[in-house]
Amino acid sequence: MGSREVDGGLHVALIMDGNGRWAEARGLPRSEGHRRGADVVDSIVEAAPDAGVRILTLYAFSSDNWNRPRREVSLLMSLFRTYLRKERRRCAREGVRVTIVGRRDRLSAAVLREVDRTESATRDGDVLHLRLCVDYSSRDRLLDAAERYAASEARGRDAYARCLGEAGGEDTGAPAVDLLVRTGGEHRLSDFMLWESAYAEIRFLDVMWPEFDVAELQSSVAWFHGRERRFGRTPTR
Ligand code: FPP
Repeated sequence: MGSREVDGGLHVALIMDGNGRWAEARGLPRSEGHRRGADVVDSIVEAAPDAGVRILTLYAFSSDNWNRPRREVSLLMSLFRTYLRKERRRCAREGVRVTIVGRRDRLSAAVLREVDRTESATRDGDVLHLRLCVDYSSRDRLLDAAERYAASEARGRDAYARCLGEAGGEDTGAPAVDLLVRTGGEHRLSDFMLWESAYAEIRFLDVMWPEFDVAELQSSVAWFHGRERRFGRTPTR
């Protein structure tokens, strides 16, 4: 579906939930949970290609997260900016293409600068495509696509699919998710990848995101391979 996707591996999408509860359970400020959560992102991105992942989509900040206290929003934006600044060279070296998915018009100039630099420094990466969802709302993207479609001359399913890929300003299309994992014990999608997850295998884990690790990623991928994907057909056995 995407215009230029990395072949030969899974598209894994992660809802990284539980940072706040992890911290609160230890008498730490929520900010500490987010900091630990950002460290986990590092290790998961590094391990993803060897785990058989070729596209990794991370829910870093939802459009509804703007409703959190100002200090928490600032911290999340600053962690995001630091991540891009610190990791862009390593990503470029290791063939990780980074793109940001979501609205850009509400991001600060400082964040946008890091986004632009990172996307252009890593654009040739073909080992892993890391898609970071920031100011992301799946419903907004579907509605944006409908508006684009209505305003365009082209008609038909393919034309609408193209509009979906263009919504949000990035050029990566809307690749189908194979495996969606949510940490933090909640069983919901929270406006994430609604279209792309039509046939995703969905795994809900009780582990809080700061405790998610490479072994959990590997066991999630192994769980995925044990599933029979039927896409509406009858079972094969
Ligand atoms: C949900 O946990 C998590 C978030 C809203 C932010 C996720 C951010 C990170 C993992 C770190 C920064 C990301 C990058 C890409 C560097 P929550 O705060 O809702 O936890 P709770 O449900 O326990 O309160």
